[in-house]
Amino acid sequence: MLSYRHAFHAGNYADVLKHATLVQILRYMTQKDKPLCYLDTHAGAGFYSLNSPEAAKTGEYHQGIELLWQARGLPPALADYQSCVAAACGKHLTAYPGSPWFAQHLLRPFDRLELCELHPADRKQLERTFSSGANVHCYAEDGWHKSIALTPPPERRGVVLIDPSYEIKEDYFKVADHLALLHRKFATGVYAVWYPIADLSRTEVLLRRVRNSGVRRILQLEVGLTSDHTQPGMTGTGMLVVNPPWNLAEVMQPALSWFAARLGEHAYAEVRELVGE
Ligand SMILES: C[S@@+](CC[C@H](N)C(=O)[O-])C[C@H]1O[C@@H](n2cnc3c(N)ncnc32)[C@H](O)[C@@H]1O
Repeated sequence: MLSYRHAFHAGNYADVLKHATLVQILRYMTQKDKPLCYLDTHAGAGFYSLNSPEAAKTGEYHQGIELLWQARGLPPALADYQSCVAAACGKHLTAYPGSPWFAQHLLRPFDRLELCELHPADRKQLERTFSSGANVHCYAEDGWHKSIALTPPPERRGVVLIDPSYEIKEDYFKVADHLALLHRKFATGVYAVWYPIADLSRTEVLLRRVRNSGVRRILQLEVGLTSDHTQPGMTGTGMLVVNPPWNLAEVMQPALSWFAARLGEHAYAEVRELVGE
């Protein structure tokens, strides 16, 4: 039984890191005039009202998108992300787009989106929002299995977002094996994996397994509210990007440093190579 609903967390600081990074990956990948496939293994609902009871209950977006929503003079990657959110919700911050929305916004008509979502209510909304797009397929299927079937994409150019909720603790173990499996089938794909730091020992296991997976060229981008990860709750969040665009570290470091400075005096941002060539 799936209990996780992204509506409670939409626009939080983890989403800022995840979606700002995704925007820069897609900007880079769409520079080339060749078709691209975007595969979202855990797509969520695709679009979230910030006036919903779920968003009101946690208020997580106050410590996320709201910190930069009206800011001027942002580092270019954050300004780009901010403009995408504004394109989704208009003048007022009453809604927040999910990863499929950012992808559809940035991809071209000849690109394709493959979206997997298991939760019936979120899937319904996902289909309502995206299924009119001729280049979008929504699957009511397990994203772990479906992504294997969909890899490699016929275009031979692809971005895969692996964004589980980690409500099932095996997800921490699954990520590295899954990444290695997809990478064996499609070595030139760009893979973006999101992870939380809520239980440091589990996150360390995930990172160790990824480091030992045999997959190379991995960039790690991390933002934390504090570097003391023994504190309760989600104290940090990260993205791993396999085969990152050459300029990703360069554009994301100032953006994440800016954001960390707004997150609080103990917050940090780090962009580093997890595994080299
Ligand atoms: C963190 S949320 C996704 C957020 C989304 N990628 C975004 O950035 O806007 C994780 C989603 O995965 C869904 N989910 C959980 N297990 C799944 C599975 N095995 N296959 C596909 N979706 C799954 C959950 O219902 C939830 O909506």
